[in-house]
Amino acid sequence: MIYLDNCATTFPKPSIVLSAVEKANRYYAANPGRSGHKLSLKASSEVYNCRENLRDFFNAKSDENVIFTLNCTTALNTVIKGILEEGDHVIVSSLEHNSVMRPVKELEKNGVTYTAAEVFPFDNDATVDSFRKAIKSNTRLAVITHASNVFGIKLPIERICALLHQYGIIVCVDAAQTAGVFPIDVQNSSIDFLCVAGHKGLYGTMGTGALIINCDRIVKPLISGGTGSSSAELLQPEILPDKFESGTANVSGIAALNAGVSFVRKKGIENIYSHEMKLITDLYNALKRNNRVILYTDKPQKEYFAPVLSFNLEGINSESTAQLLNEKYDIAVRAGLHCAPSAHRYMNTIDEGTVRVCPSVFTTSKQIDALIFAINEISKRKYVKKQLQ
Ligand code: ALA
Repeated sequence: MIYLDNCATTFPKPSIVLSAVEKANRYYAANPGRSGHKLSLKASSEVYNCRENLRDFFNAKSDENVIFTLNCTTALNTVIKGILEEGDHVIVSSLEHNSVMRPVKELEKNGVTYTAAEVFPFDNDATVDSFRKAIKSNTRLAVITHASNVFGIKLPIERICALLHQYGIIVCVDAAQTAGVFPIDVQNSSIDFLCVAGHKGLYGTMGTGALIINCDRIVKPLISGGTGSSSAELLQPEILPDKFESGTANVSGIAALNAGVSFVRKKGIENIYSHEMKLITDLYNALKRNNRVILYTDKPQKEYFAPVLSFNLEGINSESTAQLLNEKYDIAVRAGLHCAPSAHRYMNTIDEGTVRVCPSVFTTSKQIDALIFAINEISKRKYVKKQLQ
């Protein structure tokens, strides 16, 4: 199988990640922060190691400002639902995933309003300007994807943060597709809240994510419950990270995430990004030569794109293309709307969806060549009709 669905989750995982899961479950699968015995202390110390690793990786203010979550969606929900109240306005971008849009739409019922600021590929000035135009007197929060999970378009988050902070607006960045792909420094970029997936570009396992808190604004926790701290109190503790980490932690997942972050550090984030962008650029150039391939942006360029490419074949729906790639060529891609109907609506692909290709550090040029060969073959209509009968 040639796996090119790494925006959904990276596969394969590095062997140090697999060993970390095995080791955690085999040798110290006790509940961290709950008991004083050796195994519980060992589990706590592994959780702490990962917190420290993530603190350094994203330049968070302290270990306590790193909150473990189930995934990026939980981190985003924590911020969106924990901050916005009746009468508040929130700015999102025109490329958001449903992990942002659904909680925001849900809050409309509670009197929250929103504006989707347009994103202009290759024109950061125009994008920043559309965020400026979206500001209202009651804008409290902006939730912005760092890069589209469908089209790879990257947003100038530093400039947007600088602009919105002039108006006292809190900024939350959805780094589901970019953590581990671009260097992110929450303090230098003035990102108030950073939401990350642990199982994508950080190469951890599924069921992990993190919320990096870089401001003192009050956020209500999404859930409350046991934290192993202040147990005599019936109210949720206010201290970080306990405030947002009720319930037993995913220790083996956190150990895997720690190993994944170390893997990315060792490879070098710039090397990973250059490798993946070269593959995407080669793919783009090859597909551009096939007049039956529909591409949706100009050639991806380094500072404007994450390594993600969407396309379609003339006269074939995206699911059929993906089905053929899977069944006949053993190539895994994701087709359809990618849980991001807003992005598809903005790019005029809402009816047909797209076929999306996402490489990882493990993807080779040979695999991309095999994909190009398969796409060129599928694009010959006669062949497709016969295959789909
Ligand atoms: N959000 C993930 C994707 O884009 C699952 O595929």
